[in-house]
Amino acid sequence: MHTPRPPPAPRPRRLDRLLASAAFRDRASRLPVGRWVARRRAGQLFELASGVVQAQVLQAVVRLDLPLMLLEAPQSPAELSRRLDLPEDSVLRLCEAARALGLLSRRAGGRYGPGGLGLALCNNDGLLAMLAHHDCIYDDLRDPVALLEAGIGAGLSRYWSYAGGGGREAPDGESVAGYTALMGRSQALIAGAVLDAYPMRRHRRVLDLGGGDGTFLLAALDRWPHLQAVSFDLPAVVEAARERLARRPPERRLELVGGDWRCDPIPPGPDLVTLVRVLHDHEDDVVRDLLARLRSTMRPGGRLLVAEPMAQRRGRSAKDAYFHMYFLGMGQGRLRTPAQVRRLLREAGWRGAQMRPTAIPLLAQVVVALA
Ligand SMILES: C[S@@+](CC[C@H](N)C(=O)[O-])C[C@H]1O[C@@H](n2cnc3c(N)ncnc32)[C@H](O)[C@@H]1O
Repeated sequence: MHTPRPPPAPRPRRLDRLLASAAFRDRASRLPVGRWVARRRAGQLFELASGVVQAQVLQAVVRLDLPLMLLEAPQSPAELSRRLDLPEDSVLRLCEAARALGLLSRRAGGRYGPGGLGLALCNNDGLLAMLAHHDCIYDDLRDPVALLEAGIGAGLSRYWSYAGGGGREAPDGESVAGYTALMGRSQALIAGAVLDAYPMRRHRRVLDLGGGDGTFLLAALDRWPHLQAVSFDLPAVVEAARERLARRPPERRLELVGGDWRCDPIPPGPDLVTLVRVLHDHEDDVVRDLLARLRSTMRPGGRLLVAEPMAQRRGRSAKDAYFHMYFLGMGQGRLRTPAQVRRLLREAGWRGAQMRPTAIPLLAQVVVALA
């Protein structure tokens, strides 16, 4: 059982004021420990400030498909410049920047090949899809204070067409195509880990709410041949899922149901409901309503599984920073701690909510509760 640790005692404000004073920092940096702390802090701040450049180097490497290209054969900047039709000096600078970040590595004869991180990008369709949709985040974060004032970003709220206080109008096929494809492709990064964390062999019928194009359920059906599954999502998403499924061998155990969970009936009869990357897209009041509705349709003994990235709270976390700003850009939703998710479940009548460790806590943590 997970026992939460007590929060650390807050630092006295007087100490904060001292540490924030330039005169104190100047005096402290003349001592060996003070110098070490100052160097460390400077490094950390530089890392933060250069994040924008690091992300764009990554973006250029991915857009130019360098890791796969260089996996075929390492190349020199001159060779790459001819192939990519870019100035040789620019290519050299990009290669050196990417080498410094572990994306590329130097090889014999002044050539470059993929580095450790570059190799991890090769044939990693889910991650590449995630990176490709980052253009809308850059647009929304161009002026972060303007984003804070607006409380919503044009790029992200358009991308996630059900978000951003868009009211009750059902999104159309064109507006869901981008996110539905992204969700399907990125399931490759998480479905296996979620199913490892919570094996479904004891269940008969699973309902995946906000199931997207059905990729998560297909992975579950692959593992457990006795399982029946229903994926419920907005009608336009279900239409896209049908088109995608028509291109693969038929799966009779998977039913697709279109609807809006705020007003349409929830498909009856599951003994397990899954919410994969769904709750964090919504504010607490919407989550409370949804969880309570699900609770009232579930028989005693049924289970609910929540899988999504959750906040770390303690210590530095690039993931937390990313998702806090991401949901701000979307105009709805929030990154919650596991304790906050458990509390919402409890308030909606779910019992015994517990964490299940996953192999990819960066992308999804799992909480399972009982009806
Ligand atoms: C972030 S996506 C996650 C998709 C899928 N579970 C996955 O992890 O790949 C959230 C999904 O919830 C669906 N959704 C949002 N609001 C909904 C609503 N009111 N009724 C039904 N589905 C909804 C969206 O269409 C989208 O497919």
